[in-house]
Amino acid sequence: MKSPLLLLLSFLAFSAAAQPAPGPMIPREGAFVFGPATALAADEALLPLAHYAAEYLGRPVRQQMTGTGAVVLTLEPGEPSEAYRLEIAPDYIRIGATSPGGAFNGLQALFRLLPPEVYAQQGIPDGTALACGIAADRPKYSYRGMMLDVARTWVEVPMLKRFINLLSYHNINKLHLHLADDDGWRIQIKSHPELAEVGGFRGGDSPVAPVYGKWSEKYGGYYTQDEMRSLIEYAALRNIEIIPEIDLPGHSRCIGSVRPEIRCNYPPDTVTTAGTDYRSAWCVAREENYVLLEEILGEICELFPSPYIHIGGDEVEVAQWKKCPDCRAMMKRLGTVNPHRLQDYFMERLAAMLAARGKRPAVWNEAAASGTFTRASRVHGWASVGACHAATAKGYRTVIMPSECFYFDMRQTLREEGHSWASIFDARRTYEFDPAARGFSDRQLRHVEGFEGAFWTEIYT
Ligand code: ACM
Ligand code: ZN
Repeated sequence: MKSPLLLLLSFLAFSAAAQPAPGPMIPREGAFVFGPATALAADEALLPLAHYAAEYLGRPVRQQMTGTGAVVLTLEPGEPSEAYRLEIAPDYIRIGATSPGGAFNGLQALFRLLPPEVYAQQGIPDGTALACGIAADRPKYSYRGMMLDVARTWVEVPMLKRFINLLSYHNINKLHLHLADDDGWRIQIKSHPELAEVGGFRGGDSPVAPVYGKWSEKYGGYYTQDEMRSLIEYAALRNIEIIPEIDLPGHSRCIGSVRPEIRCNYPPDTVTTAGTDYRSAWCVAREENYVLLEEILGEICELFPSPYIHIGGDEVEVAQWKKCPDCRAMMKRLGTVNPHRLQDYFMERLAAMLAARGKRPAVWNEAAASGTFTRASRVHGWASVGACHAATAKGYRTVIMPSECFYFDMRQTLREEGHSWASIFDARRTYEFDPAARGFSDRQLRHVEGFEGAFWTEIYT
């Protein structure tokens, strides 16, 4: 594990306790005092959350809902939303919501009012008092995400659970998992086990080129589908939806090393690259590629309950398509000399595969640049604020994440390790990002679903 991820984790860990109090708390007379009999109680549907909370508060879950001295979670009728109501009375604390996600948000609001030891799961000492009051709050944005690049650097299940846990303390509700890139394939595909079994490892006898000069050491890993199901469940209890990304049709050097036939039909120049074939894009003209993609995306759609599947679309090196006789012939058939039209074609075919399985595509902003891509998609605007403007102006649901404000692998100061290609900034810039002050019109703002931080795990030197 490289130190930047640990730095990010510790940033998240330390800042959790510094979160603001829940939205306007209306004070009431008196205080609720934790005592030896304080327990948790919950409606049936919220019992898993009560057991979750029990680990933080160090109190048992009681079977019946009645009685004083309890922290009570109630599921209320109404349109499911992430809103909650937190009531602190002298003889009970009640969190009411119309969905488990809302109740989870209410629990986090309660935790923030308690001594910080609550996050260390050390229990709440008897005698701890909370001033009475009522707070009702709801998130402003439905999408509050974090992206983690587990492709470049392998992140093991326990570390990923810790990451999910820390995100959940910050009311982040989407984890965008970057599962496949040039340097690694991290999810088991049962119909093509070689993708993860070979593509999940670099160095040694792996065809996937290593970094850090680790030529002799083989290293890496991947999530089995069973492990991923347990992660999905772990995250869901914490109101986090895992959105998988398979980055296509570029950033695909890893799968190209495992399945060389997917690449374009020309001999690569490996003389100047010490033998490494750097072709990173799928050949658009090779019809068998779509059969393989159908099988991969079929399993991804089956495994992940999330309604969106992220299919990448960023930074495609289209020069490869211009060198490929098959792709050139295809451009001719499509009546274009612009290789970006091939990307539009490729992405639409993927979108159709997802639609046939009841899923929608999520893409990086380049995939929506021409404006032809389906409006069923969600666009992640990473390249610039301008790219987010453009996506919202075209009517795409947009997640705002311009790299100069949302890429946490950038260094925060010159003294710190990290990249600086997007900017040098700290989390203040992220938290202060206000689209209304950045020139988004009211009409564009209606297309803003929310925001996403990103943590890429590439080497920096
Ligand atoms: C990206 O940073 N290429 C999404
Ligand atoms: Zn080609």
